[in-house]
Amino acid sequence: MSMDDRFDDLAASLDGFYRTWAVYLGLELGLFRRIRAAAPSGVTAAGLATQAGCQPEVIDTWLRLAHAVDLVDLEGDRATMDEHIARVLLDDQRPEYLGGQFVSTVVSSLDHEALVEFARSGRPMEVRPPRYHRAIEALTAQDIAVFFQEGLAALPDLAAALAGGGRVLDVHCGGGKWLIAVATQFPETTLVGVEREPDSLARAVRHVQESGLSGRITIEGRPGEDLPWPGQFDLVYFQDAIHDVLDPVASLRAAWACVRDGGRLVVLDWCLPETLEDSRSVHGAMMWGIQLDQLFQGTRLWDHAGFADLFVQAGIGTPGIVDLPSGATIFIAQRS
Ligand SMILES: C[S@@+](CC[C@H](N)C(=O)[O-])C[C@H]1O[C@@H](n2cnc3c(N)ncnc32)[C@H](O)[C@@H]1O
Repeated sequence: MSMDDRFDDLAASLDGFYRTWAVYLGLELGLFRRIRAAAPSGVTAAGLATQAGCQPEVIDTWLRLAHAVDLVDLEGDRATMDEHIARVLLDDQRPEYLGGQFVSTVVSSLDHEALVEFARSGRPMEVRPPRYHRAIEALTAQDIAVFFQEGLAALPDLAAALAGGGRVLDVHCGGGKWLIAVATQFPETTLVGVEREPDSLARAVRHVQESGLSGRITIEGRPGEDLPWPGQFDLVYFQDAIHDVLDPVASLRAAWACVRDGGRLVVLDWCLPETLEDSRSVHGAMMWGIQLDQLFQGTRLWDHAGFADLFVQAGIGTPGIVDLPSGATIFIAQRS
């Protein structure tokens, strides 16, 4: 690449930074949702500002930025948006949903003041604020879509088992949205969620109450290493969680003990790229960015072999590994 090309390439990353913030604002203020709803005639900046209860000059500037970075289209003074962009940013029931990733990336960066010092000291941040946990819930909406649309398609035996009912345990259940989705899709199941973060626990309890499924879903506040249900579950599940816990081997060992004969332990997570070539992909670059944030908070991701080794260390044996189209991976062990 020439010097000029390198300059343009780096400048494009700065545009990307502002683009990310434009997405964040567009989601948080409901701007994309309103622009999408205004199709086909579109909406003006003034109309958008009134609808969203925001300052006209700020929304006008946001709209010009969003147009400049190809998030919305401006024709004269009316804004519309491409339906494919709307799907990726807004439709959290799709495996390709990225809106939550944008929200959590921006919210994570609010804590990055201490990142430079962390690089020197190696001492991770002590605790993430509740805003981060709420943002993670937006992000893991994608994992739920991935589990249902890609994971169950790849694991028809698991889908059939859930259709037949059984007891399900979600370890580190966050705000409980996966439990609600499973209970809704598989009406014969009964479910337990375990969560240790007080704010996430409170959200999970509230969400289950609001869903009207309190009779079938129980939420318990406890760490994932402390699971007092030996041999009682047909499915024990970790979604985007095993990489986050302080002692993943102890967590897996405790979870495996809860699996009854014929039952399954399933981990859905995202692996680091294995090769330098894979690192240069859009997905690979995102994974290394996420890993930096993980290290900053004292946790970490692994590659396929690293995740599988946790199962071996926990005495479970080598898990089955299923790579999904979205880039997520399922690790699965079944008790015989
Ligand atoms: C990314 S969240 C995923 C939550 C949920 N499974 C979901 O999909 O929304 C990771 C979970 O790991 C757990 N966790 C986070 N940090 C932890 C820490 N430092 N020690 C132990 N567990 C932690 C929390 O229970 C948190 O809910």
